[in-house]
Amino acid sequence: MEKEKPIGVFDSGIGGLTVVKRLSSVLPRESIVYFGDTARVPYGSKSNSTVIDYSIQDSAFLLKKNVKAVVVACNTASSIAIPELRKKFDVPVIGVILPGADMAVKETRNKRIGVIGTRATINNQAYSKAIKEIDNKIEVFEKACPLFVPIAEEGWTHHRATYEIAEEYLKELREKNIDTLVLGCTHYPILADVIQEIIGKGVKLIDSGIATAEVVRNEIDRIGLETNSAVPGNLDLYVSDIPTTFKKVAELFLGKNVNEVVKVDIEELHKI
Ligand code: DGL
Repeated sequence: MEKEKPIGVFDSGIGGLTVVKRLSSVLPRESIVYFGDTARVPYGSKSNSTVIDYSIQDSAFLLKKNVKAVVVACNTASSIAIPELRKKFDVPVIGVILPGADMAVKETRNKRIGVIGTRATINNQAYSKAIKEIDNKIEVFEKACPLFVPIAEEGWTHHRATYEIAEEYLKELREKNIDTLVLGCTHYPILADVIQEIIGKGVKLIDSGIATAEVVRNEIDRIGLETNSAVPGNLDLYVSDIPTTFKKVAELFLGKNVNEVVKVDIEELHKI
C-alpha cells in the first residue's frame, strides 16, 4: 500500500527534528522515518561534493526503509544536493529552501529580507537565489551564524552568551532595515526568542520547517499518497552515532519525549 508508506526525513544530525515537529503537527497521521547523520555532522562546513555524497547515502537509506517521499530537512543539503537527489531517486524530494524563500517573499512588505544560515548555505546564496527568482526586486542580506548550531545543541536557548553572540552576528542585519528574517538552518528555531529580541520585534521570523511541512502536505495530496490511517503516525529515529547528549537534545528539538533510537552504520551500508 503506497499510501501507508512513511515519509522519510534526513538531516546532518538531530537539528532536523525541528522540521519533524512541524511535519507531525501538519500531518499527524503520517508515519515518519528520520535519519540524522550524527556521526558526520556538521555538513555546514563541508565541501559541496561531500554534502552531495552524504545526501545521496542518507536518501538511499530512507528509500531502503520504503519511504514515499524524502524531505531534506537540512538547509545545507537542501541548498546543494536537491538536483542530484531528484536525478537519482524517483520519489518526490522536498527541500526546505524553496518553501522558506516563498514564505519570506509572501511576508515581506518593504522587500528587504535577511537570511541567516550555515557558512555553506550562505556561501551558496541558496536563499537569495530562490527569493530573487520569485521577485528580483527584493533585496536579500545574508549572514552566516555558525556558532548558533553548537549553542542550540547545548540547550542555551536563553543564555547570556547566546544574547552576546546573537548581538555580534545580527548587528549588520539590524542596520539593513529588513522586515523579514529567514531562519535558514535546522537549529535556529530553537533560538528564535533570542534572535527575535536582538533583531527587533517588528521583524517577522520565517521558520522554513513550517513552510516545508505545508509543501509536503500539498505534494502528497497532489500525488494521492496521503495515508488513510485514523491513528497518529509512528516516528522511527535512526542515527549514524548516538552522542551522549542525544536524548536531551532530541527532546529539546522535538519538544516531547523520544523513544528508542537505532544506530546504523551509514558508510557500511553503501560499501560495494
Ligand atoms: N542541519 C544543518 C543546516 O540546516 C545545520 C548543522 C550542520 O552544519 O550540519 O544547515
